[in-house]
Amino acid sequence: MAAPNKVQIPALLDLTIDNITPNTVKINSQSGDRRLTYLMERLVTHIHDFARETRLSTDEWMAAIQFLVQCGQISSEVRQEFILLSDILGLSLLVDSINHPKPPNTTEGSVLGPFHTHDAPTLDHGANMSSDPKGEPLLCICTVKDSNGKPVEGVKVDIWETDSSGHYDVQHSDRNEPTERCVMASDGNGDFWFKCILPVSYPIPHDGPVGKLLGKLNRHPWRPAHLHFMFEKSGWDHLITALYIRGDPYETSDAVFGVKKSLIVEPQKIDSATAKQYGVPEGSWILKHDFVLTTDKETEDLRDKLAIGALKKLGLNLTLIDHLPVPDLD
Ligand SMILES: [Fe+2]
Repeated sequence: MAAPNKVQIPALLDLTIDNITPNTVKINSQSGDRRLTYLMERLVTHIHDFARETRLSTDEWMAAIQFLVQCGQISSEVRQEFILLSDILGLSLLVDSINHPKPPNTTEGSVLGPFHTHDAPTLDHGANMSSDPKGEPLLCICTVKDSNGKPVEGVKVDIWETDSSGHYDVQHSDRNEPTERCVMASDGNGDFWFKCILPVSYPIPHDGPVGKLLGKLNRHPWRPAHLHFMFEKSGWDHLITALYIRGDPYETSDAVFGVKKSLIVEPQKIDSATAKQYGVPEGSWILKHDFVLTTDKETEDLRDKLAIGALKKLGLNLTLIDHLPVPDLD
């Protein structure tokens, strides 16, 4: 990345409501990293405008600082308050939508949420990833295909859900090992299948600062029942998504905005022959679903095209470097 001309920094004295912004932008423009310079310029401009437009009070500014401190203090290896904050502000969904646009008839993304871990066991097809006897058994039979309907083999699939009480394993203080989560790979036909439990609705953790904020905003903390999936294979766009169970009371009011119509599914009661074939109890639920991946190239091209269109609409004189906008110096 080319270094910009040496930035002339004016004497930073007697800064006012009106000139603090351009001066702050200027002093942040010395790194030679055009993307960093642009990000900082937009951040400072928006945050200063926010203060000017709201006439932000000192008390409100301090309350915001304390709120962020509390988010940090409650966060841990297994508690991600900042992801929750990003989720309930709609930022997580927005960033996913910008970065992983999907051509028609391919699987849409959804929010990652704060409960993915890296210690899920790798299981064989047909294994039961849930150890919760109270859950209603669910058999999932899935395929991974490309946008032409061709099976994609060897995709690493991460799957995770709550137990029947609506808690992820990491929310239990006595967690010894991962449960209700696994990793498996698609086979030569693009197939993978597993046993789990029918997902239930659950509230996001609301005993911390984000929960208190939701309460103040008169918002509920509930997420509709869902199963999380993450698909990874070199050359293919990293897909983070979820399947939502139709008819959930929170289907249209997800606290973190993750539901899309194309991701709503309807498990059925399994018939006896299929139950026998797959070794699941009579009365189990069955869900069949085809996931459609896009290649890195397909996603990259679409992302660039959408970015150029969006920037043009905003009237911004920008160019893409490494697929990310920076001011056009030409
Ligand atoms: Fe979840």
